[in-house]
Amino acid sequence: MNASMRTNLVSLQSPGARRAGGRGVRGPRPLGSRVYIETYGCQMNINDTELMEGLLAEDGFVRVDGPERADVILVNTCAIREHAERRVRGRIGELQRYRKRRPELVLGVTGCMAQRLGPRLIEEAAGVDLVAGPDAYRGLPDLIGSIQASAIERGQTLLELDADENYEGVDSVRRQGVSAWITVQRGCDHRCTFCIVPYVRGGEKNRAPEAILAETRRAVADGFSEVVLLGQTVNSYRAGDWDFATLLRAVSRVDGIRRVRFTSPHPNDVTPDLLGVMAEEAAVCRQLHLPVQSGSNRVLKRMVRRYTAEAFLARVEATRREVPGIALSTDVIVGFPGETEADFAATLDLMRSVRFDDAYLYRYSKREGTPATRFPAADFVSDEVSGERLEHLIGVHRAIQREINESEVGSEREVLVEREARSPGDVLGRTEQNKVVAFPGDPTVIGDYMGVRLTGTTGATFMGERLGDGREGGLRFGT
Ligand code: F3S
Repeated sequence: MNASMRTNLVSLQSPGARRAGGRGVRGPRPLGSRVYIETYGCQMNINDTELMEGLLAEDGFVRVDGPERADVILVNTCAIREHAERRVRGRIGELQRYRKRRPELVLGVTGCMAQRLGPRLIEEAAGVDLVAGPDAYRGLPDLIGSIQASAIERGQTLLELDADENYEGVDSVRRQGVSAWITVQRGCDHRCTFCIVPYVRGGEKNRAPEAILAETRRAVADGFSEVVLLGQTVNSYRAGDWDFATLLRAVSRVDGIRRVRFTSPHPNDVTPDLLGVMAEEAAVCRQLHLPVQSGSNRVLKRMVRRYTAEAFLARVEATRREVPGIALSTDVIVGFPGETEADFAATLDLMRSVRFDDAYLYRYSKREGTPATRFPAADFVSDEVSGERLEHLIGVHRAIQREINESEVGSEREVLVEREARSPGDVLGRTEQNKVVAFPGDPTVIGDYMGVRLTGTTGATFMGERLGDGREGGLRFGT
């Protein structure tokens, strides 16, 4: 989308700083200034990387796109599943070779896994110089500088959770894709028994609406027309008189905004007001991610999800009634402690009844410190059984998804072109309903809205052809 994304060494000066002629930038750093950040986890974490880049930019750092030439390597981590942490551990091991070659290099671990393990990470991974949690990023530039100047020893931790830290005043350095991710809420007040997030990100903190709208306007000024509002339970957002419906409407009306998405909502906070805004505001995409986690009331109760399968189904029905043409996606965990064959069958029933357009399906992963770890040992479902259930569920979901997508072949959609496809000569675009379409095009159309006809599907994604010159977008296709 912008030329600087393709260069190797990129000024990390934040957009705000650029516009303000260098506001807050301290000038060239006396010590190594090339920083490489590798990101794992959710969109929130990717947005946190952009935030860290904004903070580091103000201190004169420049971003490099690989670890080879970096003076500082940060691994921004996820703690949601054991698998995610295992990957990061492996990667930290690999990155040691750069540190061995260049002992002055600073290697840091940030994010949710850093918060969860803290000093343990330093003890177990020789060569980790700093560990910083999600509320501590303002301290990073100084900490890195002090380590580089040998003013303090390596092996530092910054792990304070701060109930007031919303990173107001920090401009993210956006560079990924054609959508601007805007965090509206950090942390989480729910206590789903399987989830580590409240323990590594603290309680819910909502940003001021004025700050969010200002950030949206900045994103437009930087060339973005699609924004994705982010929060752990984004639709529980509340700030003074503003609830999420009010915020969503205001963001969708910012001049220059053509598409707004949000993730991840909690089913309980899908209110009539929110559905009204989704139905009325043309810029709000008809797409909703509605994590159900299980179709069994017994399991939902043990998960402390605070809804029943029946209540969830009623929410789905209201959503489809109020917002015709909406695409729904979900998250499901199989093999939660105590899940029986009958519970799993209830999940299959719910999946068959809702027929989600997309689903993220996982096996339960035991997270130290979460309430679910305290269920009796006999409740834990074996890997073998949870693996079989997962495979079964994936099969059911894929068959449904294929049927839905096959029924859409032949229809016309507007896509926002995101990037080149793997197949040479093709680009990938995303429909309002968040479905991916590959169609002929060259990189010059990345960032454009184009009309396409869906000509086929792999089951999960689509092939398409351009309509006319393809640039007559702006209509609401596929109602
Ligand atoms: Fe996201 Fe993983 Fe943290 S999913 S909030 S990066 S635990």
